[in-house]
Amino acid sequence: MACIYLLTKTSSTNALLVAVVVAVAVALSSSPPVVGCYTSIFGFGDSLTDTGNYMASCLKGVVQCDDEFLKCGIPPYGKTFFHRPTGRCSDGRLIIDFIAEHYGLPLVPPYTGGENVKLGGSVNFAVVGAPALDDTFRDEQGTLTRKDISMKAQLDRFKDFLPSICKTSNCEEIFGRSLIVFGPFGGDDYSSAMSKKDIKEAQLLQPRIVNAIASAIEELIELGAANIMVPGMMPDGCLSVTLTLFYGSNENAYDPTTGCLSWLNEFAQNHNKLLQNELNRIRDRHPNVFITYADYYNAALQLFRFPATYGFHGRTLDACCGSEGPYNVDNSIDCGYPSSNVCADPSSYIDWDGPHFTEAANRWIAKGLLNGLYTNPNITASCDSATVNSL
Ligand SMILES: *[C@@H]1O[C@H](CO)[C@@H](O)[C@H](O)[C@H]1NC(C)=O
Repeated sequence: MACIYLLTKTSSTNALLVAVVVAVAVALSSSPPVVGCYTSIFGFGDSLTDTGNYMASCLKGVVQCDDEFLKCGIPPYGKTFFHRPTGRCSDGRLIIDFIAEHYGLPLVPPYTGGENVKLGGSVNFAVVGAPALDDTFRDEQGTLTRKDISMKAQLDRFKDFLPSICKTSNCEEIFGRSLIVFGPFGGDDYSSAMSKKDIKEAQLLQPRIVNAIASAIEELIELGAANIMVPGMMPDGCLSVTLTLFYGSNENAYDPTTGCLSWLNEFAQNHNKLLQNELNRIRDRHPNVFITYADYYNAALQLFRFPATYGFHGRTLDACCGSEGPYNVDNSIDCGYPSSNVCADPSSYIDWDGPHFTEAANRWIAKGLLNGLYTNPNITASCDSATVNSL
């Protein structure tokens, strides 16, 4: 009897959960742009946010490119939306692109090259592979492969750029009407420790990385930033690249409902917890600045928990673009390389190339943030402060 009761209870709880998820998905599926809230967006971060800086710097010889295959700058990257590679690590738009669209703004152009950067408009400083810790640290560790892309380097570039935009109108007004998307950062700092499977080393880095992010946010506030969105880490335990790296782990290491690596997701959640604690401290010190935490972790995890609800089918942990391997990933043959393959319908996949999501997944994550479900405090509240700050 007890057994039957438990079964019934569980399935009705599940049914309720699915109903709630479906309702949320429907509510999220049609949202008109919110025009007039922000007039520009400034982006910082790594490959989750880079809209073309790394590709432009490689092509211009500003940074040393990894190898002959320019990461995220070769086909089939961009195939779904842009129909050409733009340097975005996806088949189409990124989360920051959907944020820009939501506010009725053009997609955020990369700073490097500057061809599309307009005075008073949005600018993106994010770079593929950008670490939170600066070059000095990486140099000491012997892991410095690409200079001048770190979080600090991005801030420096922003500071160089500021006088030019503040010349045409007053700086305070520009900051009052702009949203800064600051991150995510950290993934690339952890990945070198992770690839050595040195989890202890990665754990020890967490407070250091979160402190670095917090100091950078304080610096932005000193410069005048008024509205800041700070993304946390993704559920890295669900990414096909890490699932492949740790392939064949003990059965208990996997979450039975999603197939994600639980300990790695806990690692990400711990980073996010530390980050939110820091954000609370910063809010206390700067009550007039709107700082919202963007919960990329839970926004993305929902997709793995209820894939069919969001239109994802088949093996939902597999990469759409990769090469033969348990999750269609072979960590030595990246997406775009000659013997790699790409799925016919990226919109039915969550994972694009191993470490990055498809446009379809990015769209759902962005919707979850912009709707307020996965931003804390609710991002919609910042529109009022954007108006107030501009007065
Ligand atoms: C966020 O705020 C908006 C506007 O006040 C509201 O419509 C929406 O329901 C809120 N979202 C959540 C998840 O509370």
